[in-house]
Amino acid sequence: MNSKKDTRGTWSLPFPRSPSISRLQPMTPKLSSLPGWSALWSALWSLPLVAQVPIPPAQLAKLPPALKRPVDFKTEVYPLFKAACFKCHGPEKQKGKYRMDTREGAFKVTDDHGPAIQAGQSTKSAIILMAAGLIDEMLMPPPGGKPGESDPLTAEQIGMLRAWIDQGAVWPDGPITEVVPTVRFDPDIQKLLAASCAKCHSGATAEGGFSVESLERVLNGGKSYGRVVVPGDLRKSSLLTILAGKDEDIPKPEAHRIPEKSLKQVEEWIRQGAK
Ligand code: HEC
Ligand code: HEC
Repeated sequence: MNSKKDTRGTWSLPFPRSPSISRLQPMTPKLSSLPGWSALWSALWSLPLVAQVPIPPAQLAKLPPALKRPVDFKTEVYPLFKAACFKCHGPEKQKGKYRMDTREGAFKVTDDHGPAIQAGQSTKSAIILMAAGLIDEMLMPPPGGKPGESDPLTAEQIGMLRAWIDQGAVWPDGPITEVVPTVRFDPDIQKLLAASCAKCHSGATAEGGFSVESLERVLNGGKSYGRVVVPGDLRKSSLLTILAGKDEDIPKPEAHRIPEKSLKQVEEWIRQGAK
């Protein structure tokens, strides 16, 4: 695993990734020409290759503990599934024939690793074992994708999912109406811009006349760019291009790129009217 992407703090995968036994195929039976053997071989052949391998208790003990507070499906669990899993297990793609945006799909019994979600038993739920890397070769999300798309779940996130499952894995009927949190300049965006931009964009010497010190000044924009935020209009808000690191005219583009998550937040702030 790429250590610079490891955001789990003290939590780390319990064992190195190695070739999986469950991927090994049996040798083609050579004895099948012998009379009598063929029936036996075809009987063996039809058995599942590898029964579900139980996870040793010592490995289970390494799971991040379930959070000790009530967990809410709509505001916590579903948004995490959406951010971390739907790209491959959502309406468009169902890798491993697994779809997580519907209750029925999410609770399926997996091919080789038992129920994906076993209400009340997080240690028997494949999504937990996979997210924690306890099932060889089945770390979810799989590593090695684009940055931001394959980040392993944090210990906190795994603990949150465990708590949800242990509390009964409640998934309300019907379509999920998502709750989008309100994003305000004060404190959300102000904090973010102060941390990433203020050292060059504040005070009398703010680069390009662009200052992040107040909502008013951000909305005023800069000397050559003019307005970079158009409330409610993502396409006309050039700030988003700048923050995505995709503005080729800006000096030091790398000083202008912010993490995907923060960019999404700025986007939501502008969508909600940049207040
Ligand atoms: C980048 C794509 C990708 C993402 C993101 C992803 N998965 Fe997967 N997932 C896969 C692939 C590919 C497989 C099939 C792997 C195999 O069978 O070897 C799979 C298989 C699974 C399975 C087994 C399904 C079965 O029936 O056998 C589960 C459970 C699962 N993923 C859970 C998750 C969870 C939970 C997340 C989010 C935390 C997630 N995945 C994120 C690609 C992804
Ligand atoms: C290391 C210093 C540095 C950091 C950090 C930085 N910038 Fe800049 N920025 C510059 C420089 C240099 C320019 C070009 C100024 C000029 O053309 O005179 C610039 C230009 C801009 C402009 C265009 C202003 C105009 O109209 O000329 C905007 C908007 C901007 N930056 C936004 C940001 C934001 C938002 C952040 C934080 C994510 C940020 N910058 C972080 C150095 C920085």
